[in-house]
Amino acid sequence: MRKNIVAGNWKMNNDLAQTQDLITDLENKKNTGNAEVMIAPAFTNLFSAFNALKDSPIEVVAQNMHFASNGAYTGEVSAAMLKSVGVKTVILGHSERRAYFGETDQVLAQKVDAALAADLRVVFCFGEELADRKSGNEESVVSSQIKNALFHLDASAFKNIVLAYEPVWAIGTGETASPEQAQDMHKFIRRTLNSTYGDNIAESMSILYGGSVKPANAKEIFSKPDVDGGLIGGAALNANDFYAIVNAF
Ligand code: PGA
Repeated sequence: MRKNIVAGNWKMNNDLAQTQDLITDLENKKNTGNAEVMIAPAFTNLFSAFNALKDSPIEVVAQNMHFASNGAYTGEVSAAMLKSVGVKTVILGHSERRAYFGETDQVLAQKVDAALAADLRVVFCFGEELADRKSGNEESVVSSQIKNALFHLDASAFKNIVLAYEPVWAIGTGETASPEQAQDMHKFIRRTLNSTYGDNIAESMSILYGGSVKPANAKEIFSKPDVDGGLIGGAALNANDFYAIVNAF
């Protein structure tokens, strides 16, 4: 059985006090559905978030990390540092990292390797830009993003990877992929996995959809058979909205 996951990517929002307030609000909510819940606060707030949620089923995850284990990489954070504050999962390859910080498939392959070597679970993000979709290239873009960053891995590594399909044109724009577009791409992703790693891995991977998921559209998107959850940006910053999405499962 694939796991359903709803992950809140807080991006560069919420200082320490705001993080604590939002966590308090989240803890007052009930998870009445059947999805695991993750939140990804900023690096500076991971430690306090982890401590606040120690006894909670809400998992605190990181938004990024560097591939090196330590050294002269000013401003960066390593897998070991994340682990030392209780983090067990890291988001890698978010489109904002790719677009604004020049993260290439090659860099991401190194980050994935470093995270898995440190026993971190990876939420690996990818997705096409609007121009790719307009020109009908969305599947070739997505398959090369996945293959370049992940297909050097042994089959056994995939149990520690969650995939997150996030069409760039739907992130923060209010324009969501239709449930059918999400389903078609998720099915294509599973076929791509199947062709190299076989049916067991393809069917066991959780594939999240991200891009303007809101309480109003979550149920329909999550009802699709190959959509196993969501990576939520804007709507994750409000506890009512986030739990309306969590409970859409
Ligand atoms: P959004 O962001 O929900 O605000 O579109 C999603 C994401 O970037 O993960």
